[in-house]
Amino acid sequence: MTTPLLEAENLTVQYETANGMLTAVSDASFTINTSEYFGLVGESGCGKSTITKAALGGLDDNGRITAGKIRYKGEEIQDYTEKEFNEKLRWKEISWIPQGSMNSLDPLQRISEQAAMIARVHTDLSKDEAVERLREMFDIVGLPKERVTDYPHQFSGGMQQRAVIALALFLRPSLLIADEPTTALDVIMQDQVFKYLNEIKQDGEIGMLLITHDISLVFESCDRMSVMHAGQISETGTVETIYEEPHHPYTILLKEAFPDLRYPDRELGIIEGNPPQNMGEVDYCTFVDRCPWAVPECQEQAPSLEPVGGDEDHPVSCFRREEVLEEYRAENETVAQTGGDQ
Ligand SMILES: Nc1ncnc2c1ncn2[C@@H]1O[C@H](COP(=O)(O)OP(=O)(O)O)[C@@H](O)[C@H]1O
Ligand code: SF4
Ligand SMILES: [Mg+2]
Repeated sequence: MTTPLLEAENLTVQYETANGMLTAVSDASFTINTSEYFGLVGESGCGKSTITKAALGGLDDNGRITAGKIRYKGEEIQDYTEKEFNEKLRWKEISWIPQGSMNSLDPLQRISEQAAMIARVHTDLSKDEAVERLREMFDIVGLPKERVTDYPHQFSGGMQQRAVIALALFLRPSLLIADEPTTALDVIMQDQVFKYLNEIKQDGEIGMLLITHDISLVFESCDRMSVMHAGQISETGTVETIYEEPHHPYTILLKEAFPDLRYPDRELGIIEGNPPQNMGEVDYCTFVDRCPWAVPECQEQAPSLEPVGGDEDHPVSCFRREEVLEEYRAENETVAQTGGDQ
């Protein structure tokens, strides 16, 4: 078996707060393979950014990995400090587009100068070689090559975001971590950015961890995915499997809450309630207060990720994982047949 690109294994991350230990990520496991586009999806506050910051040695001062491991190309990195991470992995191996990164370009420096500086710190490339690589990357993300010497403010928002992506990719990393990369953009710009990310994918040289609250974006642009709810991984699988056969109640309802290009007239669902803030040990299902299928057991212990129908590639953390989809379909068929008035 080949070594995965990035692995999280039983990862728990906690923040110290005035009210006690807040558990932002609880016993989370997933694997990203080489050259794979992997989506991590869930509502705001479910722990997506915390996972990336944990992987990058960049947790806030009050945050700590309290259990589990993170491996990059087989090497454990959960204990790396931010400094170690920056020296060993940042830019060359793992590039990170942080949430809200459109504003992360230095307004006082030409983009080519920013690239030259990154290359000087992390590689042996000369300034000319670095700028040439950036020009190639500008071309790929659909920006005019000659504009590498522009200042960020000379670009529109969508162009700035593509410049951020070009910078993230110009040292040819193996993994791009993109945290809500297009959330601040309008739909047309968002489509363009993803068009370029999909083009880069064709070369097969880069894997991506795409973090987003938008499940339809993951269906459109990723190979595999995990769904998260309040710190727990609910379900992992190929996007085809999760689109066609979601088995976790949260995935089923989240899918219904987003527009689907194939069914533009479908009424969007609503997931009642909000995800909880989990204090201390999480020994329950974090979806229990919102779940139409909950049983008493769900309050008493945390479900672990177990294969559905014996499929090791499709683990789901729900005690009722083998039955809810069928029940949901049966119920909705009844509603469709009776016109919804039952
Ligand atoms: N520095 C911090 N101190 C305390 N709580 C935090 C801190 N950072 C994030 N959190 C909490 O951790 C949870 C997960 O946050 P985050 O990882 O940012 O979620 P997401 O990226 O999915 O929106 C949330 O409840 C959030 O309020
Ligand atoms: S474990 Fe229970 S509460 Fe959690 S998703 Fe499954 S049925 Fe719902
Ligand atoms: Mg976030």
